[in-house]
Amino acid sequence: MRSLLKMGLFFFPLVAFGLIQGADIRAVESDAQALFEKRCSLCHPTSRPLSKNKSGDEWRQTVTRMKNYAGDRISDEEVEIIIDYLTEIRGK
Ligand code: HEC
Repeated sequence: MRSLLKMGLFFFPLVAFGLIQGADIRAVESDAQALFEKRCSLCHPTSRPLSKNKSGDEWRQTVTRMKNYAGDRISDEEVEIIIDYLTEIRGK
């Protein structure tokens, strides 16, 4: 009984930590998606990028070109988040 309690005490933080981390990752992902949907639908539908598969470097080129069109409507930090997001869901 005592050892069960000890095991519980040992595992509880691990499980709790895992849950928090999982929630965090999901939050970051849906933030990136929301950001992508906002910024990348300013001039054309998001189907334009979503119909492509590109490597990380290619997404970097495309998103940087889009940022140049958009000026300060897309920040440098947002460019990085969107490149990571697209490389993850539309990589090759
Ligand atoms: C300020 C307007 C504007 C914004 C904002 C914009 N685009 Fe574009 N996009 C264009 C124009 C204009 C073209 C066609 C000319 C070209 O390809 O350079 C285009 C074409 C594209 C293409 C097809 C060409 C290719 O290289 O595959 C993709 C993919 C694309 N955009 C992705 C994005 C993504 C991702 C974002 C968000 C970071 C974005 N766009 C935001 C104006 C914009």
